[in-house]
Amino acid sequence: MAGLPMAGLGVRVAQAWQAARSVMQFGEFERDGDIRRLRRAADVADLRRIARRRLPRGCFDYIDGAAEDEISAARSVAAYRGWQFRPRVLRDVSEVDISGTVLGAAVPIPLVIAPTGFGRIAHSAGELAVARAAQRAGIPYSLSTMGTRSIEEVAAVCSGRKFFQVYVWRDRALMADLLERSAAAGYEAIMITVDTAVLGRRERDVRHGFSLPPKLGLDTIIDGLTHPRWLLDFLSNEPITFSNCRGASGGAGADAVALADYINSQFDPSLSWDDIEWFRDRWDGPVMLKGVLSPADAKIAADMELDAVIVSSHGGRQLDSAPAPLECVPAVRDAVGDRCEVICDGGIRRGSDIVKALALGADSAMIGRAYLYALGAAGETGVDWLLDYFVEGMTRTMRLVGVRSTAELAPDLLERV
Ligand code: FNR
Ligand code: LAC
Repeated sequence: MAGLPMAGLGVRVAQAWQAARSVMQFGEFERDGDIRRLRRAADVADLRRIARRRLPRGCFDYIDGAAEDEISAARSVAAYRGWQFRPRVLRDVSEVDISGTVLGAAVPIPLVIAPTGFGRIAHSAGELAVARAAQRAGIPYSLSTMGTRSIEEVAAVCSGRKFFQVYVWRDRALMADLLERSAAAGYEAIMITVDTAVLGRRERDVRHGFSLPPKLGLDTIIDGLTHPRWLLDFLSNEPITFSNCRGASGGAGADAVALADYINSQFDPSLSWDDIEWFRDRWDGPVMLKGVLSPADAKIAADMELDAVIVSSHGGRQLDSAPAPLECVPAVRDAVGDRCEVICDGGIRRGSDIVKALALGADSAMIGRAYLYALGAAGETGVDWLLDYFVEGMTRTMRLVGVRSTAELAPDLLERV
């Protein structure tokens, strides 16, 4: 008698369990942590959040931060929100072609990997991981002068298109050597950065007393202990150095230095248009200028028959209150006509941002932080994920706005919000 209500309860529990099982779905546990993290990411903001959790604060802030009040950095991202699409419908978008050109050669998506220094603070695989992912996606990879892998190391893992970004050192013998090595290693073009007469004041780095390569001071150890995976990765890999300027005068990267002191002592603030000629005389391939914002400068570059101007504020890391690159693209395009290519660099976080940059007159777009967040969040797999995300986002946007090919992208597709 007394057992009956209990038996009734048991049946009800069993029935409830059956019902619940029919709607519950447990995927198999993913052992690969990178893939597991990426499954929970939907956009670049998510990658940034994951990277922030995984990296020591000083490293994350060096990547994420910008100059002074970070106004330019914020505006370069916000600029894309200041334009809305004027979509067209019923245009048979079953096939859309998102391919484009960079330096006259076809690319599956008009996107370039921007040069960033010190890739290995985001992940030990650093520049090599990004270069391999770029090759798989068929897009050009730009190696920074301040890279933590050398010209040759990157070329050894990446037979795809490669550009070498040039910071103009006072030491011209070093410059000539870098050009020779880039040519010998099969780099297709040089990209001369012209917005870094001196280093911008990155106040997050000032507060942290951040140095590069990161030194194992007390702060880094404490920071590292709360990010043990990063610390283990950092300690178990060969030391991070400025791989391309090893042996160069005044700090070859073995000693930790405050970046501003290093750059301000090595870079040549007297750089002028005449020096660009110096490079052209010593480099056979295409020459691009990175960091042009004014149409007047873009016109000089076109008059000199340079191959591309990269409209860029260095991700807001140099001059604060510099304009958002996207906003400068139309005037720069007008100034150069079709005499040289225009690449829009800064604030790109979605495929739709690339569509907007192209509609306003750019030939292609370039990404910096987006891939560093991806690298910090999930290594090489993260960068693959990100490049797919851009392809997918650009394709979807073109379908939804009713444009079948990048050649059809024009300013009338957009209006100010
Ligand atoms: C950079 N950038 C940069 N540019 C350059 O010419 N040489 C360099 O060594 C570096 N280093 C560097 C490091 C880090 C951590 C960042 C975030 C950026 C600037 C870079 O090439 C590009 O212009 C910006 O990153 C573009 O803005 P977004 O895409 O980051 O918004
Ligand atoms: C930077 C330098 C390395 O933006 O270009 O940090």
